[in-house]
Amino acid sequence: MNNFEYFNPTKLIFGKGKLEALKKEVPHYGSKVLLVYGGGSIKRSGLYDKVISILQELGTEVTELSGVEPNPRLSTVHKGVELCKSKGIELVLAVGGGSVLDCSKAIAVGAKYDGDMWDFAERKAIPQNALPLGTVLTMAATGSEMNGNSVISNEATEEKLGWGSILAYPAFSILDPEHTFSLPKDQTVYGMVDIMSHVFEHYFHKESNTLVQDEFCEAILRTVIETAPKLIADLENYEYRETILLSGTFALNGMLNMGLSGDWATHNIEHAVSAVYDIPHGGGLAILFPNWMRHNLHHDVARFKRLAINVFGVEINGKTDHEIAEEGIAALRAFWDSIGAPSRLADYEIDDSKLEAMADKAVRFGPFGNFAKLNKQDVLEIYRSSL
Ligand code: NZQ
Ligand code: ZN
Repeated sequence: MNNFEYFNPTKLIFGKGKLEALKKEVPHYGSKVLLVYGGGSIKRSGLYDKVISILQELGTEVTELSGVEPNPRLSTVHKGVELCKSKGIELVLAVGGGSVLDCSKAIAVGAKYDGDMWDFAERKAIPQNALPLGTVLTMAATGSEMNGNSVISNEATEEKLGWGSILAYPAFSILDPEHTFSLPKDQTVYGMVDIMSHVFEHYFHKESNTLVQDEFCEAILRTVIETAPKLIADLENYEYRETILLSGTFALNGMLNMGLSGDWATHNIEHAVSAVYDIPHGGGLAILFPNWMRHNLHHDVARFKRLAINVFGVEINGKTDHEIAEEGIAALRAFWDSIGAPSRLADYEIDDSKLEAMADKAVRFGPFGNFAKLNKQDVLEIYRSSL
């Protein structure tokens, strides 16, 4: 493996009733809070009232930014930055899923920057300062609660770009599995597909002697595969929600990629689709990942074989390595189908009319993918096989 340094500044506060920790955490950062949330799920679930009641008890001056979109938009980030600057906000508090958290990260860095936050996404500038951010997560998926990444959609240019900074890690994140009870079945499935996809992105790498990392990855994949069918049949089961919530955090908090660089091409290819069609991120990944695997199988058949055997229990029985590897990919497809994930771009009524435009967006910063370098032609082939 490569040499590495690991530092994660997020305080993870996990478990039933842990919302109470807001009472201790918020006063560390000040009394002027920007409360950021999405389209209303936290009002319907009652979480909003609980958060407001704690903030009132603390005597906090609360400014609200509601309506953060799934695939959060730059215009919403701008609104938040403006509020932070005009109201002298001291803490950004995100309550919601990955989109709310990502939008809040962008607001937190934008509030301390004179230019447009989009400069960070375009790699024209690097954040030098940020407001502190606290989060209350309501959906297991992105790992945004314990990483410094954020993905923002610029609706004017139809681009969706990820950016990251050590300054964008939440100072604290509160994860109570009960806050995810109200997540509907389809979003629960998208979240689990996203979690598995993050593990795959780490798992497909080119480093040697990564037994610890590879075994951790396989353990998380097996855990999600075992838990997913039980959870979708019993959405308010505390233990299943707890297992998936922790899996989501582990999948993208930097633990699995110590000493290695994962691939990340499929995320880039998916972001180009959701930039144009505004589809759920996990839905896009469910369609694309098996096809990325088939496209790149020849780069390292042994790794795909290992996945097939260790995660999907494919039996060897005199088959060639290639056959075993192919069977593993088919097992992934069958598993995602079994929990109701989409399998074709047509499921979102996406045809071949904008494949070129999407592929151009995907290669915006040049060929990409650490396990297998992809150029525009590769991207087009993966899109075509996903139609
Ligand atoms: O907006 P509200 O009303 O809150 O509803 C949301 C939204 O409609 C709903 N929801 C969330 N928690 C709920 C709930 N509904 C009922 N009960 C609850 N407890 O679910 C819908 C989807 O929410 P969203 O936040 O968009 O989902 P997710 O967490 O999957 O985030 C997706 C975004 O994160 C980016 C994606 O590209 C996408 O923009 N990603 C961020 C990453 C990161 N920061 O590290 C990595 C990921 O790979 C990903 O790219
Ligand atoms: Zn993802």
